[in-house]
Amino acid sequence: MQHLVDTTDFSEAQIERIFNDARAFKKEMPPKLLSDKLLITLFFESSTRTRSSFEVAAKRLGASVVHLDPSKSSTKKGESLEDTFSNLCAMEPDGVIIRHEYNNTPRKLADKELIPVINAGAGQYAHPTQALLDYFTILEHFDGDIKGKTIAIVGDIVSSRVASSGIRLFTRMGLNVVLVAPKPFMPEKGLPKYEHIHEVIDSVDIVMSLRAQLERHKAPIFEDYEEYAKEYCITKERFGDREILLLHPGPVMRNIDISNEMLSDPRCKVLEQVKNGVFVRMAILKELLLK
Ligand code: NCD
Repeated sequence: MQHLVDTTDFSEAQIERIFNDARAFKKEMPPKLLSDKLLITLFFESSTRTRSSFEVAAKRLGASVVHLDPSKSSTKKGESLEDTFSNLCAMEPDGVIIRHEYNNTPRKLADKELIPVINAGAGQYAHPTQALLDYFTILEHFDGDIKGKTIAIVGDIVSSRVASSGIRLFTRMGLNVVLVAPKPFMPEKGLPKYEHIHEVIDSVDIVMSLRAQLERHKAPIFEDYEEYAKEYCITKERFGDREILLLHPGPVMRNIDISNEMLSDPRCKVLEQVKNGVFVRMAILKELLLK
């Protein structure tokens, strides 16, 4: 039984196989490979893209999906998450897709070895399917040739599970990663750190902008995000004519993370990321459930 708690759960050969499948699925919808499978989605935090992307991916492959709404589940009556999970497993689904505010929840549930557990976002620690779809989008953009390429991650890096998983995956795959953030958003990572975008803009091939994770801040970090935007919003003035691939995991705070103008610029691949997310998740479900 294999789980996906972070991308380190996959070998490089597996990632290559997943991406080959995702590429093939993008060219032509495959047959209903998972028509006898049933998945349960369990989202303890809000989600638009990730939850619907998993559901679309599962359904494209013919799997059934049952969604449990935690705000109406027995965890609200005092049942522990582990007990809720064991009860769901007793119904013998083929996998559970979980998003939770704690970093270690997916690993804890995976360690029970009851069923494949797929992490759809855990605290600030990991969001492996987002990292994989981001990396897939980067490879696709550069035709597989990422040698010597540099990605700048810009924004609330310290609170972002997208950044955590992304940094682990991108550095493993040989991308140069640099971090651009104001001090309160900068993590303690052994990577090149900058406080201003203009310091790196001439030497990067990819910019990944991130949303300020307001819901994870114990106290407000910036009183005025318009002030923050003056330094960190990705605008046409900042990008100029440079051929830089612009990514963002969503949800985008318009004119704070990325300007309206840049969101409709052809260099911005935010919706391509969302599109690729379905194919990558289809390939991941196939990899984990058809074993
Ligand atoms: C991200 C998340 O929830 O971690 N969204 C996503 O899954 N695409 C990023 C965010 O909320 O800012």
